[in-house]
Amino acid sequence: MNKDEDAERRSSHAGVYKAFEPGKIGTMELKNRVIYPPMVTHLVSEEGHITDRQIDYYVERARGGAGLIVIESGYPRSTGYPHRIMLGNDKVILGLRKLVEAIHREGAKTVFQVNTHRGRGDEVDPLHLRPSLTPLQASSRDKSPLKI
Ligand SMILES: Cc1cc2nc3c(=O)[nH]c(=O)nc-3n(C[C@H](O)[C@H](O)[C@H](O)COP(=O)(O)O)c2cc1C
Repeated sequence: MNKDEDAERRSSHAGVYKAFEPGKIGTMELKNRVIYPPMVTHLVSEEGHITDRQIDYYVERARGGAGLIVIESGYPRSTGYPHRIMLGNDKVILGLRKLVEAIHREGAKTVFQVNTHRGRGDEVDPLHLRPSLTPLQASSRDKSPLKI
């Protein structure tokens, strides 16, 4: 391919080439703009702790070249969410640190997805859906479902 053809090809695929240019999110500098989205792996232990198998999984993705890896969703509470990252226990910090350091060693940046949960309903009845136990504000009463 000659120089003109190469320039032509680059301009017609400008968006694709841009994906491989360095990027920035706030102060976080990325080597490229390829972002690996959060995807639950169920490689977490039943109690919600990071496992070596899970670290291997993310290291493989970082080696694949993504600039940013979004670690799958974690939950502030563990009830009802087996094999999901559990943030409600300091013991998970050690594993998370190992995971983040392993991803960084492969040259990728990482962020973590903190997911929603069902609030206090989790503590009462993790298996069944029910109306929220949180008292409704008068102004939001007509916007909130009273029954599921
Ligand atoms: C197995 C699996 C697990 C997923 N887990 C999450 C998750 O933890 N958080 C999230 O926001 N999206 C999750 N997703 C959605 C993916 O992030 C989404 O599929 C991805 O961004 C690709 O987008 P697309 O499906 O619209 O092509 C999951 C998808 C799959 C297939």
